[in-house]
Amino acid sequence: MSQPGKAKDRVTPMVKESESSPIRQMMKMMEERPDILNLSAGEAAFNAPEELIEAAVSAMRGGHNRYTSTTGNPEIRKAVAAFLAAEMGVNIDPDENLLMTVGGMEAIFLAFRLLVERGDEVLLPDPGWGILRPITERLGGALRFYPLKKGDTWTVDPQAILDNIHDTTKLLVINTPSNPTGATLSREGFRAVLEKASKYGVFVLSDEVYHNYLFEEDHVSALQFDHLDHVIMVNSFSKTFAVTGWRLGYAVADPWIIRQMSVFKETVSLCSFSIGQWALAKYLPGSRPYLDLVKALCRSNMERLVDGLNSIPGIKCPRPAGGFYVFADFSGVESSDESLFRRLLDGGVAVVPGGFFGSQGAGHARIMFATDRSLIDESLIRIKAALDR
Ligand SMILES: Cc1ncc(COP(=O)(O)O)c(C=O)c1O
Repeated sequence: MSQPGKAKDRVTPMVKESESSPIRQMMKMMEERPDILNLSAGEAAFNAPEELIEAAVSAMRGGHNRYTSTTGNPEIRKAVAAFLAAEMGVNIDPDENLLMTVGGMEAIFLAFRLLVERGDEVLLPDPGWGILRPITERLGGALRFYPLKKGDTWTVDPQAILDNIHDTTKLLVINTPSNPTGATLSREGFRAVLEKASKYGVFVLSDEVYHNYLFEEDHVSALQFDHLDHVIMVNSFSKTFAVTGWRLGYAVADPWIIRQMSVFKETVSLCSFSIGQWALAKYLPGSRPYLDLVKALCRSNMERLVDGLNSIPGIKCPRPAGGFYVFADFSGVESSDESLFRRLLDGGVAVVPGGFFGSQGAGHARIMFATDRSLIDESLIRIKAALDR
């Protein structure tokens, strides 16, 4: 005879032990505290382009509300291939190399699900986007980290990656520009890393979702090297066009990887946001003015925030090469992440504690600057006042 509550006890330990990301918890808290200036978000506060919204409304009214094929409709696939050619100078086959996904996140999840088996070693950046750790752990992968280099700016240090690639490495994740640091990997660095990864049979997931936000340099994509047989490039419209809620991204990879990711996707989400696919197919070719505008806004906000933070005694804020966050060192004013977070929150500003991004992140805070300039100024006033208390 079965006992009451027994089914619950049989749930896998992974499900029982999983905790929601602190960023999700913060979003929930923000809903209850509108007085807080929220710079913890992983998304730009800018409006999405008006023409894109219009295109989405037309798509909806035009009846494009049904499933698309799993890889995405032919129109969006062609438009993305043309966008990549124009933005990054890379040529891909829209029918063979591309999968439209539910945000960049689904592309990452599918790639991990396909490539990582129990015991496989996954090499991740530290600091790096916190979601990659739980994905690896849930699949039973073994975590290994390579440190990013901190100086006047953060950089992805190719030597640190090369030193950590071994026979046991299965998957390497590169994120350029990086969340949370804005660090980038140089062209020569990328080449050296891809060559060693190829030699050791390592798959490389190149997360380029912040590709438009680069302040001095041109974006270097993993697709610009002749390594497609072991590279998966992940991208998304979330950050590029401030449509995080649309949940639309894509993966570019070798045809067999795309095919296998699509087969998995059929059982997870079937297809990606149809209206967004139609709207972006129409909007992408003319998107350059918006991309230039948001990049310029971010750049001037970044300069203001970096200078403002560095003028507060005890804070050291490297100048990010890209992305839309600063990753500033507050250890001179507060040693505990938790206390720093509380102090800033009491002062009316929400940031993300650095420890969420890895061991190298302790003592730091991630602050988002893709917002109104007046809010950057207000946040500096509030941060200074909170630390003076
Ligand atoms: C580095 C990085 N990659 C991927 C994503 C996924 O974004 P989305 O699923 O909205 O495309 C994020 C979101 O914060 C991110 O920061």
